[in-house]
Amino acid sequence: MEAILDKNQLPRHVAIIMDGNGRWAKSRNLPRAEGHRRGALAARAAVEECLALGIAELTLYAFSRENWSRPAEEVNFLFRLLVEFINKELSALETQGVRLMVIGEEEGLPGYARKALTLARERTVGNSRMILNLALNYSGREEIARACRLYMESGAPAAACDCASLTGYLYTAGRPDPDLVIRTSGEKRISNFLLFQTAYSELYFCDTLWPDFSAADLHKALHDYAGRIRRFGGLTKH
Ligand code: FPP
Repeated sequence: MEAILDKNQLPRHVAIIMDGNGRWAKSRNLPRAEGHRRGALAARAAVEECLALGIAELTLYAFSRENWSRPAEEVNFLFRLLVEFINKELSALETQGVRLMVIGEEEGLPGYARKALTLARERTVGNSRMILNLALNYSGREEIARACRLYMESGAPAAACDCASLTGYLYTAGRPDPDLVIRTSGEKRISNFLLFQTAYSELYFCDTLWPDFSAADLHKALHDYAGRIRRFGGLTKH
């Protein structure tokens, strides 16, 4: 039987690299699209569970800048799936108190996806129970470069540019860094995800392929996190 999760030891912000949709499909002789479709269901389940646990912020890596190199058919499918997800879930997200936000270069997204995202953001702007961040057309390195550009454009002196001032120009400005980053499918990389914000995040890797990632898998990650001692570069308190 699973031990009870101590609410005081839960992360405030969980970020997930949802990996393994393609392998999930391949192992079942299904098209990759089916892996993504099941991946979207797993994403919905993760949102539900984080909500039930009272986690304040969930960031999902849904489309990286590097994902454009995939076949156009797969890229188109992913954006259609995203819009389908928003259309299907928006009312529920709205009533559940979820605020939808986006990180990444939105200008580069297909028009119909931008439209759906804008509507979802507007409809949920007043919600505060949980923030659901979708990382779309996202690159951590590009986000840092963009923050530097914005800082310079603000007219502030280069000599005054420090980490705190750059933080204000990130997509995540004003919001807490992830406490826990989960990556599924056995890969142990950060893949250009939240490079600035994960400086002191706890990392958790599991072999489960994303479409199979369940509430039980999330609980396992959270138990693991609860057992970590976070030092933020300082000494361990004994
Ligand atoms: C990685 O699996 C997954 C992606 C590149 C896309 C993530 C998208 C979803 C989970 C579905 C849509 C999400 C939402 C929020 C609607 P992969 O294709 O790289 O798998 P592989 O490494 O096994 O090939």
